[in-house]
Amino acid sequence: MYISGNIIPKWLAMKTLASFTHYYAPGEIIFHEGDPGTTAFIIEKGKVEVSITRNNEKLLLAVYDSGDLFGEMALIDETPRSATVMVLEPTEVIAIERSQFDKAFDKAHPLVNLFMHTILHNLRKTNHRLLQNVDLQTSPAGHKRFNDKFLDARNETVYLVKAENELTRALNDNEFQLYLQPIVDVLSGTIQGFESLIRWQHPQRGLVPPNEFISLAEQTGLIKPMGEWIIHDAFRQLRVLSSEIPELLHNTPDFFISINLSAKQFIYPDLFSHVMDTLKQHNIASHHVKFEITESILMDNPETALLILNKFKQEGFRIAIDDFGTGYSSLSYLHSFPIDTLKIDRSFINSMQENATSLNIVHAIISLAKAIGLNLIAEGVETEQQLQNLQYLECDSVQGYYFYKPMPFAEALELLKNKSCQ
Ligand code: CMP
Ligand code: MG
Repeated sequence: MYISGNIIPKWLAMKTLASFTHYYAPGEIIFHEGDPGTTAFIIEKGKVEVSITRNNEKLLLAVYDSGDLFGEMALIDETPRSATVMVLEPTEVIAIERSQFDKAFDKAHPLVNLFMHTILHNLRKTNHRLLQNVDLQTSPAGHKRFNDKFLDARNETVYLVKAENELTRALNDNEFQLYLQPIVDVLSGTIQGFESLIRWQHPQRGLVPPNEFISLAEQTGLIKPMGEWIIHDAFRQLRVLSSEIPELLHNTPDFFISINLSAKQFIYPDLFSHVMDTLKQHNIASHHVKFEITESILMDNPETALLILNKFKQEGFRIAIDDFGTGYSSLSYLHSFPIDTLKIDRSFINSMQENATSLNIVHAIISLAKAIGLNLIAEGVETEQQLQNLQYLECDSVQGYYFYKPMPFAEALELLKNKSCQ
C-alpha cells in the first residue's frame, strides 16, 4: 500500500490501533436523525443503511459499505444528523473527529470551504424538497439559513478573490517598485549595500506599504510571481548600478543588495533554479546578492531550508537572518545553517535607550555574533544616541531613518554617484 509515494509502515497496519476503530453488530443504530454529531465515519468492513422517518414511514436513502464515508454533513456545517444510520452486517468503522476535520479545514483555501458549504446547502435543500414532495415553485423562499462558518468563509473568499484579482492586475500593470534603503558602516557612515523593499504605487491609493499586501500575496499564492519579480528587479538594479558606476563593485567588493525571501517562496521547488537563471540573465556576481530570511523559515521546515540555503551558499550568495531576536533565536541553527549576517530587530534598537534589558539583549546578540564570526546589522536606527550605543557596542553596520529612508532606485543611483565622486 502507498500513501503519496511512501510505503505504509507496519505499525500503522497493526490491529492494536483499535482506539479509532468502532465495531457494531447488525441492528445497532450508529446515530439517529436529529442527534447532534461531532464524528464522521469511514467503513472499513461491513454494511449500513441510511434512512429517515416521515409520517411513521421509513424512507431508505442509501446503503453504504466498505470504503464509504457517512456522517460528514453534521461535521461540515454543525447541523444535527440529517438521517439515521443502522447497521446491516457486522461493521467496523474508523472515526474522524470534528477536531481532526477542523484542523484540515482551517488550512484549506476559503474557496474550498465555501464550495463545500454550498454543495452541502444545496444537497439539504434538494433532500428537503424531494422528501416533502415540494416543487421548486412552491418551495418557501428564504430557505437560506447559512451558519456563521459559511458566512465567514464566503466573506473571506470574496475578500481573497478580490485581492488576488487586484494584485494580479497590479503585477501585470507594473505597479510595484523596488525601493532601496542604504545600510551603512557604523563608524564611517559609508554605504555598504542596500536592502530592497517592495512598494506598491497604486493608481488611486498612492504608495501602499508591504504590510498591506504581502500576506495577501502569500495567502493567494501570488507571492511566487511577486517574489520572482522582486528577484528579477533586484538583479536588474545591481546590473544598472554596476554599469552606471563602473568603479562601484571594484572599490566596494563587498557591495550588496539584499532581497527578502518569504517562507512561502521556499515551498516552490524551483526557487533555486529561478534565482540561478535570473543571475545568468543579468550577468552579475552572486556575492553581491544577500538573501534575508526570517528565523521561522529555518524552524518550520529545517530540511528544505538547509538544502536550499546550502545551494545558495555554494553558489556564493550571502545569507542574513532578518528580525533576529523576535523568533526562536535558537543557538543550534546559528551553527548548522550557512549564515553570514544577523540583522538585530528594530524593536530592541527602539527601546534600547529606555530599557536596560533591550540594551543588554543587543549587547548579548553582538557578542554572540562576533564569537561565531557573523556580521551584524542593526535595524531601525533613528537617533544619534542609538548610533553611539551601537558604535560603543561595536556593531558592524546600521540601517534606519537616522541615515536614510528607503528610496526609489533613481535616488539610490544618484546618491551612490555623488558618494563615489567625493
Ligand atoms: P450526517 O447529516 O452527519 O448524518 C447522516 C448522514 O447520512 C449524512 O451525514 C450523510 O453521510 C448521509 N446522508 C444524508 N442524506 C443522504 C442522501 N440523500 N443520500 C445518501 N446519504 C445521505
Ligand atoms: Mg528585511
